[in-house]
Amino acid sequence: MAKILNFAHRGASAVCPENTMAAFRRSLELGATGIETDVQMTRDGQLVLIHDESLDRTTSGSGYVKDKTLEELRSLDAGAWFGNGSFAGEKIPRLEELLELLQGRDTVLNIELKNGIFPYPGMEEKVIAAVRAYEMSSRVIISSFNHYSLAYFKTLAPDIKTGILYMEGLYRPWDYAATVRAEALHAYHLAVLPEFVRDAERNGVVYHPFTVNDPKRMEFLIDAGVAGIITDVPDVLAGLLERK
Ligand code: G3P
Ligand code: CA
Repeated sequence: MAKILNFAHRGASAVCPENTMAAFRRSLELGATGIETDVQMTRDGQLVLIHDESLDRTTSGSGYVKDKTLEELRSLDAGAWFGNGSFAGEKIPRLEELLELLQGRDTVLNIELKNGIFPYPGMEEKVIAAVRAYEMSSRVIISSFNHYSLAYFKTLAPDIKTGILYMEGLYRPWDYAATVRAEALHAYHLAVLPEFVRDAERNGVVYHPFTVNDPKRMEFLIDAGVAGIITDVPDVLAGLLERK
C-alpha cells in the first residue's frame, strides 16, 4: 500500500490547544507525518498561525488578527482556554517557528491560507519567501478556500504544491483542480467517494480529505485510495495505518 500522509489538523488539536507549538510538537510524538495549520497576517505584515479571524475563542485577546501588530498578539495567551489550563503561556506562533521545527525532518506541512474573509494582500508572497528561506518548498502544500489566491500562488511559485479546499458539490473536481494547477483536493470528507478518488488519480490529482476523526471513516478513505487524511487525532490514524 502507498504511504498515506497523516496530517495533524491544527497540530494535535484533540489534546492540545490548536495551532500552538505545543500542539505541533505533540503531533510529531503521536505519529503525524504531516501538519496542517492556518496562516493569517498581522497589521504589520507578519505571518501568524491561528484559525479564527477573531482572537476571542482561542486567546486572551479580542478583536481581529488583522488589526493587531505582532507584538500585541505575542502578549496574548493562546493556551489557557484549553482543558484544565495546563497550557497557559502558549503563544500564537509565527509561521517561521513552525518552519524551524520542521526543518531537517521529512514531515509535510500543509499551510492553509486563511484569506477567505479578509483578503490579506501580499500574504502569498510572504508565505513563499518564508517557505523558501527554510528550504521547505518540496515539503509544503498550500491550501485555501480562496481559489483565486491558489491560482495566484501558483503563478508565483509553480514548484510549490497546492490543494483546493472545498465542502461539496464540485463537478469533476480533478478537472477544476487543473484550472488552478492544483495537485490535490482537500475535500470535506463526506464529499469523497471511491470513484472520485480513482478518477482524480487517473488525472494526476490526489485527495487529502478533512477532518476525519472516526476510525471507520478513516478506514473507508484509506481503502478508497486517498493520499492523505487530515485529522485531529493523528495517533488514531497512525495506529490504523500501522495495522494495514
Ligand atoms: O484543511 C482542512 C481544514 O482545516 C479546513 O477547515 O475550518 O478547519 O480550517 P478549517
Ligand atoms: Ca485549516
